[in-house]
Amino acid sequence: MAGISPAWVCAIAALLVGQVVSYIDNSTGQVIVPGASSYNGLNLVPQMGWDNWNAFQCNVNESLLLNTAQAMVDYGLRDLGYQYIVLDDCWSIGRNSSGYLVENPEKFPHGMKYIADKLHGMGMKFGMYSSAGIFTCGRFPGSLGYEQKDADLWASWDVDYLKYDNCFNQGQSGTPQLSFNRYNAMSQALNKTGRSILYSLCNWGDDNPFDWAYTISNSGRMSGDVYDSFNRPDSRCPCTESIGCAWPGFHCSIMNILNKMAAIQSRTMSGYFNDMDMLEVGNGGQTDSEYVVHFSMWAMNASPLLIGTNVLTLSPANLAIYSNPAVIALNQDPSASAAVRKWQYFVNPDETGQGEIALWTRSLDNGDQVIALLNAGNTSMTMNATLNDIFLDPRTAGAYQAPPQLSEMWDVYDLWANRMSDNEAASIINGTSMNLTSNSNSTVTRYNATATSYAEGLKNNDMALFGAKVGSIPPMGTWSAMIERHSVGLYRLRQQPSGLRKRDEL
Ligand SMILES: *[C@@H]1O[C@H](CO)[C@@H](O)[C@H](O)[C@H]1NC(C)=O
Ligand SMILES: *[C@@H]1O[C@H](CO)[C@@H](O)[C@H](O)[C@H]1NC(C)=O
Ligand SMILES: *[C@@H]1O[C@H](CO)[C@@H](O)[C@H](O)[C@H]1NC(C)=O
Ligand SMILES: *[C@@H]1O[C@H](CO)[C@@H](O)[C@H](O)[C@H]1NC(C)=O
Ligand SMILES: *[C@@H]1O[C@H](CO)[C@@H](O)[C@H](O)[C@H]1NC(C)=O
Ligand SMILES: *[C@@H]1O[C@H](CO)[C@@H](O)[C@H](O)[C@H]1NC(C)=O
Ligand SMILES: *[C@@H]1O[C@H](CO)[C@@H](O)[C@H](O)[C@H]1NC(C)=O
Ligand SMILES: *[C@@H]1O[C@H](CO)[C@@H](O)[C@H](O)[C@H]1NC(C)=O
Ligand SMILES: *[C@@H]1O[C@H](CO)[C@@H](O)[C@H](O)[C@H]1NC(C)=O
Ligand SMILES: *[C@@H]1O[C@H](CO)[C@@H](O)[C@H](O)[C@H]1NC(C)=O
Repeated sequence: MAGISPAWVCAIAALLVGQVVSYIDNSTGQVIVPGASSYNGLNLVPQMGWDNWNAFQCNVNESLLLNTAQAMVDYGLRDLGYQYIVLDDCWSIGRNSSGYLVENPEKFPHGMKYIADKLHGMGMKFGMYSSAGIFTCGRFPGSLGYEQKDADLWASWDVDYLKYDNCFNQGQSGTPQLSFNRYNAMSQALNKTGRSILYSLCNWGDDNPFDWAYTISNSGRMSGDVYDSFNRPDSRCPCTESIGCAWPGFHCSIMNILNKMAAIQSRTMSGYFNDMDMLEVGNGGQTDSEYVVHFSMWAMNASPLLIGTNVLTLSPANLAIYSNPAVIALNQDPSASAAVRKWQYFVNPDETGQGEIALWTRSLDNGDQVIALLNAGNTSMTMNATLNDIFLDPRTAGAYQAPPQLSEMWDVYDLWANRMSDNEAASIINGTSMNLTSNSNSTVTRYNATATSYAEGLKNNDMALFGAKVGSIPPMGTWSAMIERHSVGLYRLRQQPSGLRKRDEL
């Protein structure tokens, strides 16, 4: 091996402390900051929306899409950022004699352009589905070999988003190059339409998309399909690591997918997010605290947040989980960074044989730090996070010198402290409470990202984005909290104003 030049050592060190190394593109003279912007300018923070698959599978139609969109507007979900209505598999009946896809006329009597127009009229966006294979997973026609025709058709319908699956790919997978070529064909086709279309790869982490997909897409699935279980092992989801997983499978539990993120967290960037798959909150397979873990850890890891349940029958408790602005603000943080798993111990297995505790942390754009004390063991316990563990990365990158964060005082904000009450959520669902001034809690429980972006709200220290202060950590100190079985303590650490460093207080 030729040896590592000093420049590379610096670049690696800079990456470790979260700085971005820029270079000059000699052909254009432009300064390129890798990962600072997306390949097509879209999705600088993770996409949010709804996808019908988890709750409805193939039972899709026009009224389901439009009624769901209307409910999302009425419940304030659109204005929390959930903008994409993604129609999943089973919408077409075949191709016509000119080779264009034809929608099922019974399910979609007014056609797709009509749906796009209606959704746009509601301030929502329209997502479409296909597969990079000869069939979709539901055995409807796929787009392999028809990339340009299909992209042109979707663009003519004013589609805003494509979820692109991996079924029936004719064996054109098995190496990153084969998968890249197949997914790039659609990327190029979408680009040629001239319409801005968010491109979401659904290739289950096959052939390590986190190594190559950021150059051609806006998000990429990093695991086999999720299912609605907290931690049940399933032989159909055999991998426990994302890297080099030869058979991604399906029926992957929340804890299985979460732990696959640990190794690839550095491959999350503005414009390309590792997609942990659609949310299961509301589908009935987990307890309330397990759904809180699911939502918190997807937000922590900057996964796309696609509601995967029936919004029309959403319970108040589940609306309260989907609607926590302090947790969504994490997901939408301008840093576009993912979380780091600082430690993990296997303890207290439950009936499934699974049990662990872990500390995950994440550095945010404004210098705040988030910590998640995750108790996936079978008994409640006091968990501890030392500043030394929380700020391990700046320490290792800084030639083992104590980083300044260790000698700071940190205020601790519990991001679930202001979860809206079931009562408040019920009043939103029954339509008696969209008048914000009628609810005394609404300034901390609700947020309107259509009016004020999360980035702006964070700058303004909007109370709804910071949970509630529950204590502080002294220099070199430890944060300890009682964490119930199968739940998480999610805290935002803010440096206390001291000496010359002043910050607007909340
Ligand atoms: C760009 O130009 C600089 C200065 O001439 C040179 O050192 C560098 O190798 C070039 N980079 C590439 C990618 O060609
Ligand atoms: C549309 O789909 C939903 C969900 O599957 C179903 O409940 C409803 O009856 C369907 N409506 C029509 C008109 O087919
Ligand atoms: C096939 O579908 C396309 C797109 O909807 C349409 O423009 C074309 O006229 C159709 N061709 C035939 C033969 O029906
Ligand atoms: C197509 O690709 C070019 C080059 O990367 C990019 O500048 C342009 O914005 C893309 N257009 C669309 C519609 O995505
Ligand atoms: C797990 O905890 C539950 C509820 O506390 C208890 O009933 C069960 O026996 C425990 N299982 C194991 C394997 O310890
Ligand atoms: C956290 O610290 C407390 C007090 O020192 C200790 O009792 C407890 O066992 C620790 N928790 C864990 C999970 O190590
Ligand atoms: C305000 O929040 C508190 C604490 O969650 C809750 O007990 C109370 O019911 C809420 N009030 C309203 C009007 O929603
Ligand atoms: C709406 O829900 C709230 C909270 O559960 C309840 O107090 C109120 O009576 C309900 N109003 C109507 C009109 O159903
Ligand atoms: C909102 O509710 C408050 C308190 O119930 C009431 O005074 C006000 O008129 C309402 N505003 C609107 C726009 O309905
Ligand atoms: C959010 O703000 C937008 C734009 O100001 C407004 O149109 C919308 O009605 C607001 N939504 C809610 C739920 O208050």
